[in-house]
Amino acid sequence: MLFASCNSEKNNSNATNSNPFEKKVDSILSLMTLDEKLGQLNLPSAGQFTTGQATNSDIGGKIEKGLVGGLFNIKSVASIKDFQNIAMEKSRLKIPLIFGMDVIHGYETTFPIPLGLSCSWDMEMIEKTAHIAAVEASADGINWTFSPMVDIARDPRWGRISEGSGEDAYLGSQIAKAMVNGYQGDDLSNNKTIMSCVKHFALYGAGEAGRDYNTVDMSKIRMYNEYLPPYKAAVDAGVGSVMASFNEIDGIPATGNKWLLTDLLRNQWNFNGFVVTDYTGINEMIAHGVGDLQHVSAMALNAGVDMDMVGEGLLTTLKKSLDEGKVSISDIDTAVKRILTAKYQLGLFDDPFKYCDENRAKTEIFTKENRAFAREVAAQSMVLLKNDDKVLPLNKSAKIAVIGPLAHTKENMAGTWSVATKQDQSISLLEGIKEGAGSNTNILYAKGSNLSYDENFEKIATMFGKEIPRDGRTDEQLRQEALSIASKSDVIVAALGESSEMSGESSSRSDISIPEVQRDLLQALVKTGKPVVVVLFNGRPLTITEESEWASAILDVWFSGSESGHAIADVLFGDVNPSGKITATFPRNVGQIPIYYNHKNTGRPLGNTEGKFEKFRSNYMDVPNEPLYPFGYGLSYTTFDYGNLKLSANQLNPEGTIEVSVDVTNSGDYDGKEVVQLYIRDLVGSVTRPVKELKGFQKVEIKKGETKTVTFTLTVEDLKFYNYNLDFVAEPGDFEVFVGTNSDAPLKAQFKLVE
Ligand code: BGC
Repeated sequence: MLFASCNSEKNNSNATNSNPFEKKVDSILSLMTLDEKLGQLNLPSAGQFTTGQATNSDIGGKIEKGLVGGLFNIKSVASIKDFQNIAMEKSRLKIPLIFGMDVIHGYETTFPIPLGLSCSWDMEMIEKTAHIAAVEASADGINWTFSPMVDIARDPRWGRISEGSGEDAYLGSQIAKAMVNGYQGDDLSNNKTIMSCVKHFALYGAGEAGRDYNTVDMSKIRMYNEYLPPYKAAVDAGVGSVMASFNEIDGIPATGNKWLLTDLLRNQWNFNGFVVTDYTGINEMIAHGVGDLQHVSAMALNAGVDMDMVGEGLLTTLKKSLDEGKVSISDIDTAVKRILTAKYQLGLFDDPFKYCDENRAKTEIFTKENRAFAREVAAQSMVLLKNDDKVLPLNKSAKIAVIGPLAHTKENMAGTWSVATKQDQSISLLEGIKEGAGSNTNILYAKGSNLSYDENFEKIATMFGKEIPRDGRTDEQLRQEALSIASKSDVIVAALGESSEMSGESSSRSDISIPEVQRDLLQALVKTGKPVVVVLFNGRPLTITEESEWASAILDVWFSGSESGHAIADVLFGDVNPSGKITATFPRNVGQIPIYYNHKNTGRPLGNTEGKFEKFRSNYMDVPNEPLYPFGYGLSYTTFDYGNLKLSANQLNPEGTIEVSVDVTNSGDYDGKEVVQLYIRDLVGSVTRPVKELKGFQKVEIKKGETKTVTFTLTVEDLKFYNYNLDFVAEPGDFEVFVGTNSDAPLKAQFKLVE
């Protein structure tokens, strides 16, 4: 017998799509012309406008005619008011506009990039970052954000891995929920909450070869088990909108995919918000090769798209398609109703200017409190990858040589997708270290190298004002200067890695190592014999196999937002003990990609764990199967010992629970936090099952010398997966449980799920 929840492929008839605003929405709809209806589906990008320019702009004219439903990426209450004024004073029906923005990891107060944030494994904190982002954005006129990005990514060549929560569907689902709750709170009409938009639906992180916008091809069973859960978690948390992705699914672009946007999203998951395309997503279906603009626009509407970002395909072609019977007025009406409902939910019909309070804009953005919290969050996101001979934490009175192209660049601290950040407000590493060291004036600095030997690469890696001005001196001169200050120091802090524009949208890399000039610099620094601490900046896992041998310590700081420099110094000096754990596997080389902890076993698994090559086994001749750093990995200044793994029973009944407990002892010299992780393995299934799956984690604070018993409760729900028929089931049989400090957890026990 199976313990099944529902047949996921069948429509769920329990849908409760009751809409408290239905009558009001219907009465507006009855007044609208077809043009005005299509206008509600239109989302142009306004770009930056100087206050007062709106009325005379092309967009201003369209708003007047009722041809715009919303705008995005306008920063300032004054400009937003300008546009809203046109809608309220000059358009016939005075329907308020919705104002969106990519508020991805904070607003002006910028938090770590999402990949970094996920390494905190702290759901309460993550939710609070989204709440603060909502408060700041709404104080500046915004009421809708294109976040969270929940695309599972197992290919670090893909630059947008930086924008998500890594490779795991379970952790990704928890984070999706926390983010949606943080943005939306429990009352969307409150002017301190904003509507969230989960993206990019779906599977955008699985593009072939890690190249952005590339083809995706995946079995349904993999989708359901490994890629869809975080989107579903956002829907279950009540997310107000969903963004369709650029990629195709089963040969049909997501933007025109009815199975995805209607059968799955609405009929199976009961989503009742609205669907927006990604930027020109409809028009891009022409290049995908599925038809001309009229055809793809009709296809998008018929699939379940409600709003068209930038491309104006819906606005300009649906009339013709309606005349020709290719779309129905009831489908157009349904889309309009969803947009109007969202505007009601946000309270915009009560007060179109409720998010336009100049006083709030002056007092609630980039506040001292928000910055202090950003500093805390940034430190929690950092991951200590190596720390030989306890070289960290640093002594505040040591002579420290701070070297590297990323040591003093405010512009590169916030990270990708930080639209509202004022880059010059960020704290650089050098500034942070100087401040953190207080009266110590022995902080020396040299740039050491440019970002890359290749000037042209450097240009495309420092776009959008994320400059690292190229130093005109020769590579040798830069290196010599660095070596000279290194020789005067006790310890070297080498700030190396990627610039912030080396990850993010359209920033895929085929080689994910640290640029060669920086590797050469590192080698030269290591040769001095002084301890070298690498402060690693990166928007993705990097291949740092050699660097991990050369350096004495490596602290991965991602791009940790406005307070980067302060937070890095807090960790380097030991004011904060690092506790972050990576959420995407670090490969040894690019050839291992895709590499992820919850893989299948194959019929010929490697018979040893020492990485020894075995003929006719699933392994490589030239590299072990094991990654450089596994999922969930991260060190602390203290040490944690695990023992005494116990199960409350060795059988689980479908209605029962099993308690899994473990003793964790802080055996080192510092108080610290540890992310205790629980994994299971379903030993025999009707389909092949992963070798391990995360099913629980707890971040616990343990004082030095103290032992804490950490307990997890497992139920039959934790054992469920989508089977061959895509039913969500738990199958009776044996399960292994692993508990430990990362996905390589050695402690294990076994139990049986009985009928
Ligand atoms: C990105 C989205 C983003 C949108 C609006 C697109 O290029 O893929 O993630 O929300 O632009 O800025």
